[in-house]
Amino acid sequence: MLYPTRKDVPDHVPLERIVDYDVFRVDAPDGDFAGAMVRLRDSGLPKTFWTPRNGGHWIALASADIIYILEHPAVYSSCAMRVPKEANPQPPMMPLMVDPPHHVHYRRLIAPAMTPAAVRSLELGARRFAIELIDVVEPQGRCEFIADFAQQMPIAVFMGMLDLPVQDRPQIMGIVDRIVRPDAPASRMTGFAELAAYMAVQLDQRRAQPRGDMLSHLVTARINGQLLSDAELTGVTTVLMLAGLDTVAGMLSFIACFLAGNPAHRAQLRERPELMVNAVEEFLRRMAMVNLTRELRQDAQIDGVTMKAGELVVIPTALCNFPEDGQDWLAVDFERPRTGHATFGAGPHFCIGSMLARAEIRVFLEEWLRRIPEFTIAPDAAIEVKVGAAATIACLPLVWTPRLAMTV
Ligand code: HEM
Repeated sequence: MLYPTRKDVPDHVPLERIVDYDVFRVDAPDGDFAGAMVRLRDSGLPKTFWTPRNGGHWIALASADIIYILEHPAVYSSCAMRVPKEANPQPPMMPLMVDPPHHVHYRRLIAPAMTPAAVRSLELGARRFAIELIDVVEPQGRCEFIADFAQQMPIAVFMGMLDLPVQDRPQIMGIVDRIVRPDAPASRMTGFAELAAYMAVQLDQRRAQPRGDMLSHLVTARINGQLLSDAELTGVTTVLMLAGLDTVAGMLSFIACFLAGNPAHRAQLRERPELMVNAVEEFLRRMAMVNLTRELRQDAQIDGVTMKAGELVVIPTALCNFPEDGQDWLAVDFERPRTGHATFGAGPHFCIGSMLARAEIRVFLEEWLRRIPEFTIAPDAAIEVKVGAAATIACLPLVWTPRLAMTV
């Protein structure tokens, strides 16, 4: 909807580029976030517009502009990763919120956790935990997929990555809960503080007794000859947890919602396991759900409008996966020839956990469909998509007939 007034809008923004749009609200009662973003892009709005909501910011909807922004970090900085500006965490998350050239130092720090061998070992743990979770819910014939599965598996993977004691899982889950589902904005900050305090204890233990794990590596690592400060250690460990949690949980929520309503796709995956790798890629393309944000370091032109230094621009990465070329990109087609997608971003910050994310999604599909081949969304469930930096389905009640009931 075009905005009828210039109130709260900077003077340089042309009137026809002002749209009343809240990035945190999306009209997707079918649980299809990416589809809703495509509808927004194709609705006739300007491809780049300013919204006065959430502190006032730009939104770029054209795929070429989104990729351009991601590939030009000297102009479009990652020092802000969400709107409004005040909502950005301090200390900044690393490497996510650090620009080149310093960014690479932090990225190198976490690279050892993401090698093919490390991911294979994390996948084993993820599979064990996924089976454990499914075995708990399967006999019940129902679950709330987000809390019972989607948010739990990535926590176990994160704990495996940092070699955290298994008995701390309830504590970590409580902290994550406060960060991810805060009952008030202050509980999110409390969650971050608790995470930092928990990590400080773990880091101290590794300093006293190094174990050759990721945290031991972080406490001895140096950047330009200096050990990492407490703020840097907090920045890196927080990003490792959050970057791999909301994103994987959100992606699993959209995949499970789709599969619950599409028995033919479920059957195809069960009957043709050779399609699994392609299916993971197709889901990643089709269910993209990350809205990135950049802050302008200097004035710049995109799509014929001038954005000023200090302004924020939101870029929905999903829109790069649905070219406007007449093909049916909204269809989920496991036999689609592989195409590139921007679900993991582009440019220097391209997701370093992409291999791990793919493994987690494949583990979910394999183990869930093996144990719960038929399932649907519970009747009367109202599907609500929640949008943050990553979108997710807020609550997804699923139902099925337990195996035991079928054999009686
Ligand atoms: C489906 C799941 C995932 C999606 C869609 C996703 C998406 C993304 C995107 C779009 C970025 C770029 C951010 C930017 O340009 O500002 C990113 C960066 C990142 N991701 Fe992922 N991610 C996923 C899973 C994971 C996992 C499992 C991890 C493991 C811990 C992870 C760790 C990271 C890190 C550390 C960065 C920052 C990289 C950098 O700044 O150089 N992600 N991710």
